[in-house]
Amino acid sequence: MTRLNGKTAVITGGATGIGLASAKRFIAEGAFVFIYGRRQAALDAAVAELGPNARAVKGSVSNEVDLDRLYAAVKAERGSLDIVFANAGAGSPLPLGQITAEHIDEAFDTNVKGTIFTVQKALPLMGPGGSIILTGSSAGTTGAPGFTAYSASKAAVRNLARSWAEDLKGTGIRVNVLSPGATATELAKQALGEAGQKAYGAMTPLQRMADPAEIAAVAAFLASPDSSFMTASEVAVDGGLAQL
Ligand SMILES: NC(=O)c1ccc[n+]([C@@H]2O[C@H](COP(=O)([O-])OP(=O)(O)OC[C@H]3O[C@@H](n4cnc5c(N)ncnc54)[C@H](OP(=O)(O)O)[C@@H]3O)[C@@H](O)[C@H]2O)c1
Repeated sequence: MTRLNGKTAVITGGATGIGLASAKRFIAEGAFVFIYGRRQAALDAAVAELGPNARAVKGSVSNEVDLDRLYAAVKAERGSLDIVFANAGAGSPLPLGQITAEHIDEAFDTNVKGTIFTVQKALPLMGPGGSIILTGSSAGTTGAPGFTAYSASKAAVRNLARSWAEDLKGTGIRVNVLSPGATATELAKQALGEAGQKAYGAMTPLQRMADPAEIAAVAAFLASPDSSFMTASEVAVDGGLAQL
């Protein structure tokens, strides 16, 4: 498919998991992709795998100076930007009763503040036909035991698209939320453990976790003109987990 021919994309958290699968898919559909994350080794490995239409910039979504460097690199090499996939995310479990300020900050600094600045700082490079995709989570709809901060932060992400669809009226830029259910990535392994992953697979109507490529396929749809009449929407790619 060539739906993303000539388009430039930024994918935060693009070195691993859902972000890396999406970078592969976007490039396969014709895009030039900048991936962004904090670990240089992971970025290097990803770029080696992605090939000549990928670049990596190291930084944190919680750091505005880092984000400025990201968009300066995009501007210098490509001049403008068509797609922002604000996908970097963090979250670990802590049951009610044990929650600390640091634990709340970890989820909200990355998932909420990080998403806001990732998008706000991209806007000067974007124009009509632009597509912004935010990674939410089924946990933002259902909640999840032990995941107070993460679930609340993802509920906030869902709401960002509602405000921004208003703020972006007249710009020709769309913004939508892609909300995965349990997906086989490092984050799921670390946050849920083996037993938790099995339990989430069993709870899911499709009776398994997602492969990251299944999330990437929907990210490519939201990035492309095939979703041209969609904005402010949440698209669940969760095997039915949050839908029953
Ligand atoms: N896997 C699931 O079951 C699931 C379900 C629902 C939603 N999600 C969401 O999907 C998104 C991708 O997660 P994943 O499952 O693909 O896990 P993953 O492979 O661990 O990806 C998370 C990525 O985010 C990056 N990241 C984390 N904090 C960052 C920061 N402050 N600045 C820049 N990059 C940062 C990480 O890179 P560095 O550590 O190198 O920075 C990593 O590449 C997240 O938003 C997650 O909440 C996942």
